[in-house]
Amino acid sequence: MDAHAWDERYAASDLVWSAEPNLFVASELADLEPGRALDLAAGEGRNAIWLARRGWEVTAADFSQVALDKGRGLAGETPVRWVRADATRWDEPAAYDLAVVAYLQLAAPERRAALRAAYDSLVEGGTLLLVAHDSSNLDEGTGGPQDPRVLMTAADVLEDLDDLPFDVLHAGRVGRSVGDLTAWDCLVRLVRRPG
Ligand SMILES: C[S@@+](CC[C@H](N)C(=O)[O-])C[C@H]1O[C@@H](n2cnc3c(N)ncnc32)[C@H](O)[C@@H]1O
Repeated sequence: MDAHAWDERYAASDLVWSAEPNLFVASELADLEPGRALDLAAGEGRNAIWLARRGWEVTAADFSQVALDKGRGLAGETPVRWVRADATRWDEPAAYDLAVVAYLQLAAPERRAALRAAYDSLVEGGTLLLVAHDSSNLDEGTGGPQDPRVLMTAADVLEDLDDLPFDVLHAGRVGRSVGDLTAWDCLVRLVRRPG
């Protein structure tokens, strides 16, 4: 989906996602000392706003202006820097202590560009957290995009970054309850190493 299609999707309903943060973003990051955070492909900003309310200085970037405008409204008085930008061309090296990439749905070459941009945005010691619909969700899970090209595994994510220095804290598949069913996400948490 291009930016125009996402704009249309966001314009068509009140809130496409939730006002609450994603469950894995919240559980992984609740104990991290606040600093500067980038939420790349932030959508309506549920994760960015949650981080900002916990003391983070947050930049929320997305290529959908409609999503950013909704995020600004949702944030109210909470300060968040909203930036319209293409995640595959994000270029703010060594500026953040944390980069969050949640449910970005891109084909492999664009995904690789966006993930490397997110990694580059980190200072040494900074954390990259990716949560996405897992490839196995198509056959074993529920919901999410039905196009296998925009699904991924933790192994794909690590391969996108394989020549870069980092320590892996978590890389695997995690389940999310949706009613009686389970949606399968992939979750990668890593820390940028010097080098
Ligand atoms: C499934 S939504 C997830 C939004 C948010 N991260 C969340 O978890 O609520 C995917 C988002 O990626 C954005 N997006 C897709 N491709 C993008 C790109 N190349 N650059 C910036 N944003 C992009 C869309 O506009 C959309 O807001």
